[in-house]
Amino acid sequence: MQIRALASGEPLPLPLLLLADPSEELILSYIQQSHTFVAEKAGTIVGVLALQPQGQMAEIRNVAVDTQHQGQGIGRKLVEFAIAQARQQRIKQLLVCTGNSSIPALALYQRCGFRVESIDKDYFLRTYPEPIFENGLPCTDRIKLRLELHPQP
Ligand SMILES: CC(C)(COP(=O)(O)OP(=O)(O)OC[C@H]1O[C@@H](n2cnc3c(N)ncnc32)[C@H](O)[C@@H]1OP(=O)(O)O)[C@@H](O)C(=O)NCCC(=O)NCCS
Repeated sequence: MQIRALASGEPLPLPLLLLADPSEELILSYIQQSHTFVAEKAGTIVGVLALQPQGQMAEIRNVAVDTQHQGQGIGRKLVEFAIAQARQQRIKQLLVCTGNSSIPALALYQRCGFRVESIDKDYFLRTYPEPIFENGLPCTDRIKLRLELHPQP
């Protein structure tokens, strides 16, 4: 498995991006300000990462792994890649937001060292026109997590 930048002119892996965010409109708005990376296995794109720099911070805007390839460590490799990219650019904090119902994502980020910073109650009810359900839960609240990136010796 290798992670590489999406080449300019290469089509966006929209089905993958939609796994993490059901709004194509929102995806298309933030993807323009993000660096997009793909995880590739035997020539097939199996994962995606969108990382948006915001001054001294950066935000993981989207991370997703093809359903057939989940549970194999690819999500973790993508998040670790985001952390390495941020460190390389001397970014001090990495942020990510996810839904209360995104159980695997909440586990993944915390396994990678992120801590919960704040909860925006009813964010998904306000922002998305259709109700979102996953893992048997309504997705209502947005959870923001943060990782402090201390300078490496
Ligand atoms: C979230 C997602 C990217 C994880 O990708 P993945 O390749 O399946 O994750 P990994 O196999 O690398 O697992 C990452 C870690 O999370 C843990 N984890 C994953 N699912 C879990 C669950 N349901 N409960 C507890 N821990 C879980 C794993 O044990 C692993 O921990 P470890 O590396 O310390 O052993 C994937 O589930 C996905 O694409 N989901 C749909 C899109 C999405 O929700 N994206 C995030 C939106 S913000």
